[in-house]
Amino acid sequence: MPLHIQDMSQALFDTVQSLIDEIKAARPADQAELEQFRIRFLGSKNILKPLFGEIKQVENSRKKEYGQLVNEAKTLAEALFEELQANMKKEGQKAAFANLDLTAPGEPRPIGSRHPVSLVMQEMIDIFSRIGFTVADDREVEDDWHNFTAMNTPEDHPARDMQDTFYVVDAPKMVLRTHTSSVQARVMTSQKPPIRIVAPGRVYRNETISARSHCQFHQIEGLYIDEGVSFADLKQTLQYFVREFYGGDRQIRLRPSYFPFTEPSAEMDVYMGLNSEKDYRITKGTGWLEVLGCGMVDPAVLENCGIDPERYTGFAFGIGIERTAMLKYNIEDIRLMFENDVRFLRQFQSIV
Ligand code: DAH
Repeated sequence: MPLHIQDMSQALFDTVQSLIDEIKAARPADQAELEQFRIRFLGSKNILKPLFGEIKQVENSRKKEYGQLVNEAKTLAEALFEELQANMKKEGQKAAFANLDLTAPGEPRPIGSRHPVSLVMQEMIDIFSRIGFTVADDREVEDDWHNFTAMNTPEDHPARDMQDTFYVVDAPKMVLRTHTSSVQARVMTSQKPPIRIVAPGRVYRNETISARSHCQFHQIEGLYIDEGVSFADLKQTLQYFVREFYGGDRQIRLRPSYFPFTEPSAEMDVYMGLNSEKDYRITKGTGWLEVLGCGMVDPAVLENCGIDPERYTGFAFGIGIERTAMLKYNIEDIRLMFENDVRFLRQFQSIV
């Protein structure tokens, strides 16, 4: 015999109410039980879903009440699920932490290595900083004035040919700096003497790449300007550098040379001796190795940069980093420095 509509309604109300009671009483003990709860009350085939459809069986006067009751069941289930889930996550984290052995030794992580260029550059910075030089850092994309003109190398100067320049496309007055000497102009136009800086960094020249030369390399520039700075100060500073960097009581010699931005200019050789075949090879049988260019800052450069050459004098020097690193670590090919082959780089792992 079919149920009377009122009995039918009451049966549905009872079902929903018992589900609400079940939800309220639910205490899932672990993730698996919580998942059961979710599937039963919130999953895509949850038990409440068909009950929404049953509203058509409910007598009109109680439809609203019924709808609210089913909704209440759903809202309750959602709220409880979220609360339980958050609690379990917290408990899980606590448990994980409780199981941590804080006295256990750490897992060793592989230590990277420093690039030979960085090693040499840092060592030089350390050496010069011990006698009061600070580091000046500046741009690699430089304007023509700071790279050339200020450094006493105007547009028609033949010395521009010595440094095959990369010009920036559509901006012919902008270059990739060909030497760190451009930082001299940057510092002199922005600071007042006394100036005592080293400027390490990358430079670029349009040169054919080979085992000996590359289109990019690094230099470290030195600049010292004050009242009464003399050539003797330059010589002392370089002698100090060579003792610290090459070790021992090494001899140096200064040969006259030419750079547009220094007058007089010199190149410095270090005596390496002739003890091995390598010494013969790198010094071409003389025992002397050229390591840097230097000189007294040309008064015209001081003037270009707004420093009074009547009052101030200074010296400058520039050292090539790759060449120095190649000698120090017996690297035969400059291209290795820019290929980032880990088999090469790894060899510097233990060198601090
Ligand atoms: N800028 C020069 C070069 O790249 C190196 C150099 C020579 C720098 C003499 C100096 C210097 O500061 O005084 O070849």
